[in-house]
Amino acid sequence: MITGQGITKTFRQRGGVLGAREVRALRGVDFAVGRGGAVSFIGESGCGKTTLGRIIAGLEGHDSGEITVDGVAMSSLRPRARRPYFRRIQLIHQDPYSALNPTRTVYQALLAPLALRARQTGRPASWVDGRAGELLDLVGLDPDYVLPRYPHQLSGGMRQRVVIARALTVDPEMLVADEAVSMIDVSLRLGILALLRDLRERLGVSVLFITHDVATARYIGDDGELYVIYRGQVVERGPVETIISAPVHPYTQALLSAIPVLHGLERPGAQPVAPTGTLEEDKPDAGCLFARRCPFATARCAEEVPVLGRTGDIPQEHACFHPEARSVVAVPAGRA
Ligand SMILES: Nc1ncnc2c1ncn2[C@@H]1O[C@H](COP(=O)(O)OP(=O)(O)OP(=O)(O)O)[C@@H](O)[C@H]1O
Ligand code: SF4
Ligand SMILES: [Mg+2]
Repeated sequence: MITGQGITKTFRQRGGVLGAREVRALRGVDFAVGRGGAVSFIGESGCGKTTLGRIIAGLEGHDSGEITVDGVAMSSLRPRARRPYFRRIQLIHQDPYSALNPTRTVYQALLAPLALRARQTGRPASWVDGRAGELLDLVGLDPDYVLPRYPHQLSGGMRQRVVIARALTVDPEMLVADEAVSMIDVSLRLGILALLRDLRERLGVSVLFITHDVATARYIGDDGELYVIYRGQVVERGPVETIISAPVHPYTQALLSAIPVLHGLERPGAQPVAPTGTLEEDKPDAGCLFARRCPFATARCAEEVPVLGRTGDIPQEHACFHPEARSVVAVPAGRA
């Protein structure tokens, strides 16, 4: 089980005509991913998804809050002692080509991590070749075909499978897949998503899936949990099917309407949510972060900060004072 409590992160960006500014990338995020579980983070560009994924994988520090891996608080350990814990969490990047060294064959790419694994687990060096074949089988590749080849000799889908096989060399507890299918040909995406679902079932590995596209979140498993992130805050959280069928936060509703966004305004009775681009990040925030875009904002929303939790008989957690099922559409930027 990997958990986070109150994770915050602020970046100080320097330079540019506007001079230095602070970006509050994460504002107190809680999460929990159990063994074999599937959690998806969705939200628009810049909401903090990648930052959170990198913090969870131990690749980025955070300002406050606590990450625990199997009950061990990472803040209680020295950086060196944290490494074996974070090694159990493997990041899969969106671009499998840049993740692989173009001058190395697939065999060479798997050899080094497997040789290390053999030493760590007291296995003989001869174990490595058989394990390389097993891992490629597991990710749906023919070892005889793939092992001697260089990345450029493989399709994008095959390369991403090799990256996943390499991540599996360390027997990870969790794969963090950051937009892992966005750069892959559309026809091959479903295969990769099905593979991630299959690895959950066969190995008990959990998957943290980061995406713009809620439709892809469903393929990791319909038992999964969805976290909807807006400007570094989780605004809705619950079972993926519940949120997709009955979102209650206006931002989630707008996000789910984002596919028919170009003609969505013609939907009768739908309330438009203002586009991004009008946000003034540097202004101190009072009240709900979404208030300036929200068609349902009341005086209370401008003063009080809504906290993630459950209300009434709504099954999912949400951070909204006026949650209900209703028709909302996102307005494309430039149409406000
Ligand atoms: N290393 C960094 N230095 C300064 N600012 C950063 C850094 N990394 C991220 N940010 C800022 O933090 C915010 C969150 O970025 P992040 O990459 O986590 O968003 P994201 O949700 O993954 O977006 P996308 O969907 O475009 O990948 C953005 O405003 C971004 O500009
Ligand atoms: S709390 Fe108010 S402003 Fe925020 S999303 Fe809900 S209705 Fe809109
Ligand atoms: Mg990102």
